[in-house]
Amino acid sequence: MDKNSNKSQDLILFGPPGAGKGTQSEMLCERLGLFHLSTGDILREAIAKGTETGKLARQYTDSGKLVPDEVVMKIVEEKIGEVGGNGGVLFDGFPRTLPQAGSLDEVQERGGRQIKLVISILVNDNEIISRLEGRRMCRHCNRIYHIAANPPAKEGICDVCGGELFQRNDDRREVIQERLKTYYAQTQPVLDHYRKKNLLKEVDGAKDPQEVSRQILAIIA
Ligand code: AP5
Repeated sequence: MDKNSNKSQDLILFGPPGAGKGTQSEMLCERLGLFHLSTGDILREAIAKGTETGKLARQYTDSGKLVPDEVVMKIVEEKIGEVGGNGGVLFDGFPRTLPQAGSLDEVQERGGRQIKLVISILVNDNEIISRLEGRRMCRHCNRIYHIAANPPAKEGICDVCGGELFQRNDDRREVIQERLKTYYAQTQPVLDHYRKKNLLKEVDGAKDPQEVSRQILAIIA
């Protein structure tokens, strides 16, 4: 028997800003029953509530920089603690630095958990800019839309929960450029960490969302 068979089987969705990590996470979590752990969503919730973590995080998110590793790790450890038994976790937008990846290895080892796969979604910078400038999100349930490619039935209103749609502060062009720089400098090197562990798989993120999802499900299967 595989000595790791009693460990939870967690996934990481990796990619630049706007690659479609959130969009794919919604589909995958619904289909596979995974717990969606998005550090971006958790930080935005803290910012909206005006908590101490939120006030600190805002200084970084609004300028396209990464929130300090120790703040992010505290949030992640708390969330993983909420996942019962061997329930699988889908990490979205985490880890984003080499220290975060190293800390996640330790947390997983301590908790009897295991990363099964890291799926890297490939999209070019021009496509990213057009996706992010047109993105709208539901303030209530975080559902993701695009004003041209995936608009809601009624402008400004979430199809799922009726919540108000808004444009993220960091989806302005100058912040998007900064987020891309941050991604290439600090986050892309994390790919090597997982390549060395033989966990990394790539999908073509330029296809439509259903096709990207099919590629991911084929890899998982
Ligand atoms: P976070 O919220 O994680 O942002 P991100 O990684 O920059 O990713 P996005 O949410 O912008 O994009 P996505 O890949 O989820 O794309 P989506 O599916 O929405 O982080 C925000 C900030 O928080 C960071 O800048 C940082 O400051 C901080 N932070 C978060 N995690 C951190 C960490 N671990 N460490 C430190 N700091 C951290 O899609 C985008 C748009 O494209 C949508 O409009 C969608 O409808 C459309 N779309 C999606 N897929 C397709 C497709 N296949 N074809 C056409 N359109 C598509």
